[in-house]
Parts: sequence; structure tokens; C-alpha cells
Amino acid sequence: MTQQCYGEEERVNLRQVIESQELWRGTGHENFTARFEKEFGEWLGRKYVLGICSGTCAEETALAGLGLEPGDEVICPASAPIFVSFPVVSIGCVPVFADVDPRTLIISAEGIEEQVTERTRAVMVVHLFGQPAPMDEIMAVAKKHGLQVLEDCAQAYGPTHRGRKVGTIGDVACYSLQQSKHMSSGEGGIVATDEPDIYKRMALFSNCGMPWYGYGMEPPEREPIAGHTPRGHFSFGHNFRMSELQGAVCVAQLKKLPEFNERRKKLVKVIEDELGAVDGIELPYVYPDTEPNYWTYPVRVPAGLGGYAEINYLEAEFQKMQRERRTSLGIPLPDTVQYTPGACPRTEEAVKRFRAISVHHAKEPEEIREAARGIREIVEGKSK
Ligand SMILES: Cc1ncc(COP(=O)(O)O)c(C=O)c1O
Repeated sequence: MTQQCYGEEERVNLRQVIESQELWRGTGHENFTARFEKEFGEWLGRKYVLGICSGTCAEETALAGLGLEPGDEVICPASAPIFVSFPVVSIGCVPVFADVDPRTLIISAEGIEEQVTERTRAVMVVHLFGQPAPMDEIMAVAKKHGLQVLEDCAQAYGPTHRGRKVGTIGDVACYSLQQSKHMSSGEGGIVATDEPDIYKRMALFSNCGMPWYGYGMEPPEREPIAGHTPRGHFSFGHNFRMSELQGAVCVAQLKKLPEFNERRKKLVKVIEDELGAVDGIELPYVYPDTEPNYWTYPVRVPAGLGGYAEINYLEAEFQKMQRERRTSLGIPLPDTVQYTPGACPRTEEAVKRFRAISVHHAKEPEEIREAARGIREIVEGKSK
């Protein structure tokens, strides 16, 4: 048995979209996507929000919002889902990997500082597993070196740092609405910022350069050229728009988020009861003054018994970039950028100690208890 995540509320909204015969957000009609952006902004506490078609596209849009130039370096955590560093490549920039804190697998201020060069422009902070990153230290190092900060909150809907929701601390935040996340429209993404210029760049980039700004912002004038009035594409861009089918589901899901988060907390409690007193298992480290809201619950086990494999630069495509000394888009790699095994040694050691249990809000406590017991048996040597 699994808990229901989608039901009557989503059905009612979806029916309304179908009946309207407008399945895209388009222009000139009221739409769920715009409503979701407004309501999500209120929930998060950010001024400008855009619905995007996926979390990966949201990540790329957020990077575009920062106004980066080809060849700029973006510091990323060495251990994170690959969706974090590929968008850096697709925007024409160079991902540079920094060591993470071995207690949490979250990028550390120390790791960032080790990788800063004169080409570094931004740092990507992933609130991995729903653990809030130590943002005071990270923001201090970013300020010292003039770096912009992107918070990847794909796994972090609602964790707090000093009482403030993550996603409101850096320059821009992005979210994923893919099936496994705290709330979902199957696929989908969100970007959020307080900076009007970042918002405008994101709106253009995600809409093929067309300025469909919200929030009462005026679009630029179209200048006639050679006797033609252009259609109005003011920047390079993709079509990363959220569809109305996604927007309709998101409006319903946002209302349920507090309930989903409560369900997740109960599942976390089940794991903590099962594993809290087991020799050889360490429960997650929580940074001072922060409150996690777990997407997946990470425990540390003795080295060699872990099973977390997300080291971006060890993936085949990065190894190809290493051999060819250029990114997949042909941007040359400076000598300081190396994707060789051993590049982030603390991370490579740390991942060997991590196991993570999904605490998805659809799951039943019994399922979670069984998963936790599975880890306990591995650690106690009863199974492999
Ligand atoms: C940390 C992180 N960033 C970005 C993404 C990309 O999101 P999506 O799968 O919606 O493209 C994910 C998805 O799992 C993620 O976990």
C-alpha cells in the first residue's frame, strides 16, 4: 500500500485546464502557472518566481539569470546528482568541482575557497537530501571573492537556516518538481529570486528570448530593422516554459506540501528509532541553527558498506572532457581544471560511507522500517 499523493484537487484543476482548451500558459488568459508562481513566491518568501518545465532546465535558467559568460567557472559540489553540473556545461561555462563536508556531502566553504581562480563567477550550493547547507560560511566566502550563489533546492522544500527557508539566501534558487520530490507535477521546475534583473534574464532565457514578464514589468520596445518589425526575441533562449497541465497540478500540490512534509517527518522518526542506537551507524549531522526537511535520509556506515556513487567528474562524459581538454560544447579547460580521480579526495572517501533511505511521503512506515533494518543488517554483517 502506498499513500495517495494526487487526487480530487489535482483532478478538478486539470479538468478546468482541459475545458479551457488552453494547455499552455500562453498570453492573454488567466492561468494556473502564473497563480502557482505567485503562491510559491508567498510560501518561499521570494519576490520573483518562474515555473519551468523541469528541474534541470530550472538549473540552466538560474545560471542564465546570473548573466554568466562562456568560459566562466562555476564551482559545484563534487558529489551531487549530475543535473547540477551538466547545466553549467550547457550554458557554455566550466564546472569546477569542490570538496564537500564528509559529514553531509554538502559543499564546504573550505572546498570552495580551494577552487577559486580569477575566472570563478558563481558557486552552486546543493541542499543535498534536504539538509540545509552552512550558508553563513558559504555566503562569507562568496562575498570575499565576489561570487554569485545559486541554491539548488531540488531536494529541499522548506528546510531552514537560522529560521529562514533555504532558497532565500543566495542570489537565485532552483527547484525540481520531478516525481520523487517533496511536491511534484511528474516533471517540472521552479526558479526564484529577489533581483529584477536576474528575473528578467531568466524569463527571457526560458521563453526563447520573449519578454513575457510578470510582476508588472514592462517589456522592451521592438525596434524596426531594415523595414521589418522583429517578432521580439531579445536574448538567446530555450522554450523551458511550464505547461498549464503542470501548473494546475502544482497549485494543488503546494496546498498539500505541509501535510506531505509532516508525513516525511514521521518516516524519519521510524528510521531514527530503528538506527539511532546501532553501533557503526551515524545519523545525519545537522549544522547548528538549521532544520532539515529530508528528501532522502542519509546515514553514515563503515567505509566500504556505503552505496552512494554521485561523483560528477568520474562520469564518462567528464572523463571525455578531461581527455579532450574541452567541455562538451568545446570550451577549453584551463590547466587548473582537472576531472581526474583523486581531484576531490575528501569527497571520494566520504561517499563510501553513505547510504540513503527515501522518505517519500507516499511510503508507509513499514516499508521504511524494512529499509532501515536492511541497512542495520548490512552493518551488523548479516547480509551484503
Ligand atoms: C539536486 C538536484 N538538482 C537538480 C535536479 C534536476 O531535476 P529534474 O529531475 O527535475 O530535472 C535533481 C533531480 O533529481 C536534483 O536532485
